[in-house]
Amino acid sequence: MIDMKGKNLVSVHDLSREEVDQIFKTAEYLKMKKKTGEKCEILKDKTLAMIFEKPSLRTRVTFETGMTQLGGHAIYLAPTDIQMGKREPVYDVARNLSRWVDGIMIRTFSNDIVVELAEESKVPVINALSDLLHPCQSLTDLFTVYEKKRVLEGLKLAYVGDGNNVCHSLMFTCAKLDVKMSIACPDGYEPSKEIEKLAKEDGLELMITENPEKAVKEADVIYTDVWTSMGQESEKEKRLDIFRNYQVNMDLVRKAKSDVIVMHCLPAHYDEEITKEVIESKYSVVYDEAENRLHVQKAVMALTM
Ligand code: CP
Ligand code: NVA
Repeated sequence: MIDMKGKNLVSVHDLSREEVDQIFKTAEYLKMKKKTGEKCEILKDKTLAMIFEKPSLRTRVTFETGMTQLGGHAIYLAPTDIQMGKREPVYDVARNLSRWVDGIMIRTFSNDIVVELAEESKVPVINALSDLLHPCQSLTDLFTVYEKKRVLEGLKLAYVGDGNNVCHSLMFTCAKLDVKMSIACPDGYEPSKEIEKLAKEDGLELMITENPEKAVKEADVIYTDVWTSMGQESEKEKRLDIFRNYQVNMDLVRKAKSDVIVMHCLPAHYDEEITKEVIESKYSVVYDEAENRLHVQKAVMALTM
C-alpha cells in the first residue's frame, strides 16, 4: 500500500503508475462495498470544502454524496461565495480553509489557481476541472474502460473533437496506463503542445489527425466532449461551424472495432458532438461512466484525506 495521505490531485501527470493502480483498486473495493450495502466510514468526521466557479451536476453531486457515504461532510461554496483572487487572494483562501477542513475540491477557470491553492494549502487539493485539466474525469474514464474490457495495456482510445481539458487529462491518464490515443480535431483545435510533450515523455503513443475516420480505425474506445466548453460561450456559433464534421454518429462508430465502447464525460450537446442514437445504442457506456465518478472520487478522497 502506497501512502498517499496529504497528496494533491492537480494533474494525473503528477501521479505514479502505482498510485493510479491503487486508486483503481480502492475504487473497485468501495464500489463493491456500496453494492453490498456495507458502510465504509473511512472519512468519519472529516470535511471537504467544494469551491465551484463554474456549473456542475456530476462533480458536485458525486463529491458531496461520496463524502456522506465515507462518513464525512461536504460544504458547497458557490461562485458568488469566495470569488477566488477577487474578494481575497488565493493564498488566503488556502490558508484559511486549511485551518478548518480536511480537503479542498476546486472547479475553476485558470489551472494556475489550482496550482497556487495546492501550494499554499496544508490539506490536499483536488482539481475538479480547470480550463486545462479534468483529472477526476479521466481517471474515472479509464477505470470504466478497465471494467468493460478487463485490460488496458495496448487498447486504442480515439478522441474526436476539441483538444480541451478532458482531452488533456485523458492524454496523461492513457500515458500512465499504456493506452494508445488517436485524436481527431480541426486545425487549430489540437491539444496543447506542452501537454503533448509531457504525455509523450510519459510514454503516450499518440496520433493526431484532422480525419475522424482515420482516428477511429481499430479503436476500442471512442470518446467525445462538447465543442464549446464552459467559459467559451461567445465562440459557440463559430465552433459549431468548425467542428461540424467531427460528430460521433452511428456511421463513425461502425468504422471502429465491432466491440467499441463510446464515452462522453457529459453534459452532452445532442446532435452536435454526439447523436442521441449513439448515446442510446449498445455501444454507449456514458451512464456507467457517470456513476463511476462517485466510486473513483471516493477512492481519491479516502486515500489522500
Ligand atoms: N463531467 C462533469 O464533470 O460533469 P459536471 O460538469 O456536471 O460536473
Ligand atoms: N470540456 C467541458 C467539460 C465539462 C465537464 C467543459 O470544460 O465545459
